[in-house]
Amino acid sequence: MKIGIGSDHAAFAMKEEIRAYLEEKGYEVTDYGTYSAARCDYPVYGEKVALAVRSGEVDRGVLICGTGVGISLAANKVRGIRAAVCSEPYTAAMARRHNNAQIIAFGARVVGIDTAKMIVDAFLQAEFEGGRHAERVALISGIEERESQEQDPRFFR
Ligand code: RB5
Repeated sequence: MKIGIGSDHAAFAMKEEIRAYLEEKGYEVTDYGTYSAARCDYPVYGEKVALAVRSGEVDRGVLICGTGVGISLAANKVRGIRAAVCSEPYTAAMARRHNNAQIIAFGARVVGIDTAKMIVDAFLQAEFEGGRHAERVALISGIEERESQEQDPRFFR
């Protein structure tokens, strides 16, 4: 399985550790940055990983910022992407099993490295269950499709 990973400066050190952890486990990992602890902007890396997932360049994404919130919000703006932010492994597994999330996100200022590894393991090992969950995920896609047609500028605040 190919994994795309990305972070901002707040999570650079954790991203490096998680990348090494995944490589040790035999995953092929592409690092989309950031490549240093210099201050940067999380939407850049959220978008890069989300586009790589959508294009099929990688199978799954791992995104880390201070809280996991900003970088997941950015990734979720890429059509077809479902990025789930979580701080424990149960939610990470359920994000695959019920929500068919392709990207997991978490916060380097929220979880420690051991929990981060458990989150990533749970996410990568779980599979989408389909069935009624597929119908619900299709409803999410329907919202996205309708919103992409929305032209009223009042909605773009
Ligand atoms: C950076 O200071 C911080 O705002 C960012 O890493 C993230 O937590 C945003 O959601």
